[in-house]
Amino acid sequence: MAAVSLEQLKQTVPQSIDDPSHPVAKRLADVLRSRSEKPRTFVLDDPENIAQAVACGIELDSVYFSASANDPKLTGVDPGVPRYCLSESVIQNLFGTQKHSRIFTLARTPKKRSLGELAGGRGDILILDGVRIVGNIGAIIRTACALGAAGVVVINSGLSTIVDRRLVRASRGLVFAMPVVLTTRAECIAFVRQKQLALATLSASATEPLSSIRTVRERLALVLGGEREGLSRELDALATHRYAILMASGVESLNVSVTAGIALYEHAVSASH
Ligand SMILES: C[S@@+](CC[C@H](N)C(=O)[O-])C[C@H]1O[C@@H](n2cnc3c(N)ncnc32)[C@H](O)[C@@H]1O
Repeated sequence: MAAVSLEQLKQTVPQSIDDPSHPVAKRLADVLRSRSEKPRTFVLDDPENIAQAVACGIELDSVYFSASANDPKLTGVDPGVPRYCLSESVIQNLFGTQKHSRIFTLARTPKKRSLGELAGGRGDILILDGVRIVGNIGAIIRTACALGAAGVVVINSGLSTIVDRRLVRASRGLVFAMPVVLTTRAECIAFVRQKQLALATLSASATEPLSSIRTVRERLALVLGGEREGLSRELDALATHRYAILMASGVESLNVSVTAGIALYEHAVSASH
């Protein structure tokens, strides 16, 4: 679909909202405050992330922009979607000191993805065993998409939904491009056992160098531990491979998203030969 410029959007805007108690502003405030596990709508911001999410099939409910916005392009937005121009004071009232972009949307929450959807894929699966920093989870999802993984399982992250605004931003809208499943460790273990997935854990203290992964032809579930606690004993006990990325002395560990990228790449490259 052709890009629609903000200037074009502004010209078709039926209404400017400059009162925080206006129903449109109140609805936005409710969505931003929601802690629901099943929100019906969520805030999707930044033109690049909006375009990515729309390309992944996300439906937009409404578009918002600040009166002072310049002229960013907004790709793929149906002209029938309602548009609102918000005053700076309404935007300030909504976001306060939180990061936000001058153009954002409300979007409809997609159907929840399930572990079963990961069973039949061909790429590796990433299991995040207690990774809690949303920026890391988002970066891992982005890398997983780029390197052909089948999906990402997220355990004990503290997230209640994948449409968490911080996660959508950190993944650059790619959280909608593949199955991303929030679940418990017990459910994940049951799934791994039932599908007889080969599990490979990554830990700085493992004795086998990651380069050995190049000889593994089968699909793997790669398990990465949390920022503070590392891997759980339960998942490590199920592993058939335990790899370390060798580091210079004096460095305790790598960032978990960096580890995920290196491990996926090592295995994906070898599998393609
Ligand atoms: C920041 S580290 C966790 C450090 C934590 N203190 C620990 O005891 O493991 C987060 C995760 O990244 C992965 N990781 C970090 N450095 C690694 C390395 N050199 N080799 C393999 N995995 C690594 C592991 O999965 C680890 O659980």
